[in-house]
Amino acid sequence: MDILVVGGGGREHAIIWSLSRSPRAGKIYCAPGNAGIAQLAECVPIGVFEFDKLTAFAKEREVGLVVIGPDDPLAAGIVDAFEAQGIPVFGPRKNAAEIEGSKTFMKDLLHKYNIPTAAYEKFSDYGSALAYLRTRELPIVIKADGLAAGKGVTVAYSREEAEQALQEIMVDKVFGEAGAQVVIEEFLAGQEMSILAFVDGETVRPMAAAQDHKPVFDGDKGPNTGGMGTYSPLPHIAEDIIREAVETIIEPTAKAMVAEGRPFSGVLFAGLMISPDGKPKTIEFNARFGDPETQVVLPRLRSDLLEIFVAVTEGRLADIPMEWSDEAAVCVVLASGGYPGPYPKGVPISGLEDNGAALVFHAGTARGEDGSWVTSGGRVLGVVGLGATIAEARTAAYASAEKITFPGKQHRSDIAMKALI
Ligand code: AMP
Ligand code: GLY
Repeated sequence: MDILVVGGGGREHAIIWSLSRSPRAGKIYCAPGNAGIAQLAECVPIGVFEFDKLTAFAKEREVGLVVIGPDDPLAAGIVDAFEAQGIPVFGPRKNAAEIEGSKTFMKDLLHKYNIPTAAYEKFSDYGSALAYLRTRELPIVIKADGLAAGKGVTVAYSREEAEQALQEIMVDKVFGEAGAQVVIEEFLAGQEMSILAFVDGETVRPMAAAQDHKPVFDGDKGPNTGGMGTYSPLPHIAEDIIREAVETIIEPTAKAMVAEGRPFSGVLFAGLMISPDGKPKTIEFNARFGDPETQVVLPRLRSDLLEIFVAVTEGRLADIPMEWSDEAAVCVVLASGGYPGPYPKGVPISGLEDNGAALVFHAGTARGEDGSWVTSGGRVLGVVGLGATIAEARTAAYASAEKITFPGKQHRSDIAMKALI
């Protein structure tokens, strides 16, 4: 079966790597892809919002399955566009992707169905939001309603920070329409955990749990990024907490979406906070694979990813076997100097040829005129080490990460340390 994957980051590279191992996979196309993905798939220069061109391409090449990677085309209805042409597509429709696209929708849904999440209020008027904010204790969390490339959330420890965040979202409109509404919510203390699950309607099949590192610097310092590194499994979080999160959060949410007439199909990704007494609460839902969670989760999948994707699109998820390996995986992201602020592009990369045992997923790379590797994005590469334990996987990841160099390269040196102390 020929496949079209939409997107062009490390997540899509990991998805394509996993799909390419399926005996049923034929030719794989990726729109727009990147230079690393081009080693496994034919990259097609079509943007993720060019729905007409993408559907025409899929029809012309008679692809049997389309897989959507990123959040914003999902929120804009890319799945509906493929379905309207009768093309099988893995991902949620626009009305289900709203669980990620609108934080007010997500919070109201969880509130209505009594699913654990932080207490909150929502506002579309700056004056009322500010008045409410001034009655709340610190720390406090301010969130733009819509998609803001991971930058719409401020955890404020001072009144100035909180009021500045509110002003930027609602008055300065730095996130545009995504900031037309704002959620002000209770701060949750604890450990964060990501659980990604395959979902079709009410059927939920959780993947291996993972933990991301969002702030750019060691010790969780500095501004938030898309994610600087991940690991899986989480040996320091008890199995029954993970089970409780699936049973009290993800499964009821899938049921709630069906009850609301917005059945979810695809990957539902719960960002959770585990309180110090071991209770999971929802921080956010994403309607897609995480980046860089996917880079550590899919290498641990023993079953055939293509079979799973097809089963979800055909509503047969409940019936298929799904096996995970006990192996540990650690992903260290190598980023451009300056990221998440402005960064240079076209910087030459060396050391990509000899990666030892690690998997290297490309996020922002391109080929220079002479065919050499250069940077083309903020997050450049995700280096994934595998091993019997997190400690072994971590050693493998860092050994390979050190071999790859480019001017300005930055990475965190404490990925997965939380699992080791
Ligand atoms: P989000 O973009 O919603 O994933 O939020 C970004 C980050 O902000 C999360 O990964 C958390 O670290 C933090 N965060 C969001 N909501 C809360 C909350 N209610 N309490 C504590 N931290 C939060
Ligand atoms: N790594 C977090 C995300 O994909 O949203």
